[in-house]
Amino acid sequence: MPCIVPVRLWLILLGVALSGCQRETAPRFVSSAEVLALTAELENVEADEEVDPEELKLWKDLQKQIVEQLEIRCGTPSAAKMLGNDQIEKTHLVRGGQVFMRRCKPCHGVTGDGNGPVAQYMNPRPRDYRQGIFKFTTTPYGSMPRRPDIVHTLKRGVTGTSMPSFQELSKEDLEAVADYVILLARRGQLESQLVSLAEEEEEVDPEFVEEIVGEIVAQWETAQRQQVMPVSKMPEMTPETIAEGHEIFLKKACSRCHGNNGRGGSIGNVEVGQDAWGHKAAAADLTSGMFHGGGRPIDIYRRIYSGINGTPMPAFGKTFQEDPDAIWRLVHFIKDTGERRRRGQALMETATQSTAGVESKPDGSSQGDPAEVSADTESSEPSVPPAEPAIPDETDTPEETDAGPNDAQPSDDRAA
Ligand code: HEC
Ligand code: HEC
Repeated sequence: MPCIVPVRLWLILLGVALSGCQRETAPRFVSSAEVLALTAELENVEADEEVDPEELKLWKDLQKQIVEQLEIRCGTPSAAKMLGNDQIEKTHLVRGGQVFMRRCKPCHGVTGDGNGPVAQYMNPRPRDYRQGIFKFTTTPYGSMPRRPDIVHTLKRGVTGTSMPSFQELSKEDLEAVADYVILLARRGQLESQLVSLAEEEEEVDPEFVEEIVGEIVAQWETAQRQQVMPVSKMPEMTPETIAEGHEIFLKKACSRCHGNNGRGGSIGNVEVGQDAWGHKAAAADLTSGMFHGGGRPIDIYRRIYSGINGTPMPAFGKTFQEDPDAIWRLVHFIKDTGERRRRGQALMETATQSTAGVESKPDGSSQGDPAEVSADTESSEPSVPPAEPAIPDETDTPEETDAGPNDAQPSDDRAA
């Protein structure tokens, strides 16, 4: 008799342990809020309201079809498939999934929804990949990232946020997990479009699904050939180019969001609306020396040229079409303003002050390290004319840019 309790207890513990294991070994993709919303209204009605059972059945059925389509085309976390591409080795994606579950899931969540268990404590929040929007790309505004852009982000981390660097991962692991991120992004894009399809057509016709898949895949493939390259080589950084950069900064209303001195207003981090993920967006503090998108001149150039997807930071490529060197001068001002703060020098405020600031520097230290500057410009890369978002550039950049210097170069973010 006395041994009954321990046996029961043992069984319960075993049960808990097993279900724990199961959760560990078989993570599952979760449906988006949009998918759940298809029936939420019908299910959460007041007691006295009547729900048409036919209607509820219709929407439940559509929900089921969406989940089925996603599983057919994108698989499960442990046997994931790249949407619209069955050429990729299965083992490569399995490897990517394993790295992701080990290293990324706590923040980005199994489904890549940015809702991992530790995510809620972070600002900015870990990226929700499901809209296919990535901030730090080398592509024009509104485009998908190139695969090497994601690998590059993984190597350098996002300085100034909780996104760490994964420099220590092998090349194979990095590429596999980058593909896994792309897979999750494409899956999320498909999911969201299947919801629209279901709402519009009240059916999930495989023929339409095929069409949607084609469009998503085309967006990603086009972006691989659209790397933005500066038309001109970066001029030497001098007190004059810095002061000119500051004038442009004031004239082109960069200061409206970033403050006259680049600090994001008097206290820094001025909020300028919302981002695509529904969070408050802060104008970057350009004096902090911690550039989220990378601190090389070429990185800052591209942030200005292409803007930052999903945030209020606009693309200025068109604005400076006639005078592309103006972007380099802005880069010089931005590099300098961070240096000033680090050295405890006064920041440039008004246009007159910016000239004064230049004159008051007898040792020319504002020039920074010229060697560092020119080594950073990627000037050895072929100069491909920058692509404008409106005109997909199908012909230029050959595939070889996929393994471009962007990846070969060690990350040299100052603060990294
Ligand atoms: C400690 C939490 C954390 C971990 C672990 C983490 N990330 Fe992130 N990640 C973030 C945060 C926070 C951001 C958002 C940065 C921002 O908005 O500037 C981010 C952003 C990203 C982005 C978007 C970059 C862009 O251009 O918009 C990618 C891609 C990414 N992470 C991939 C990964 C991968 C792959 C792993 C695992 C190998 C990983 N992350 C691990 C927190 C994390
Ligand atoms: C409408 C407001 C707005 C205007 C105008 C604006 N920015 Fe920004 N900028 C932002 C926001 C918001 C961010 C931060 C985006 C993010 O990473 O979440 C940002 C980020 C940046 C970054 C990236 C910093 C990093 O951490 O990598 C640079 C560089 C930059 N801005 C330069 C400029 C320049 C130069 C101009 C003018 C030509 C300009 N901005 C105009 C809102 C603005």
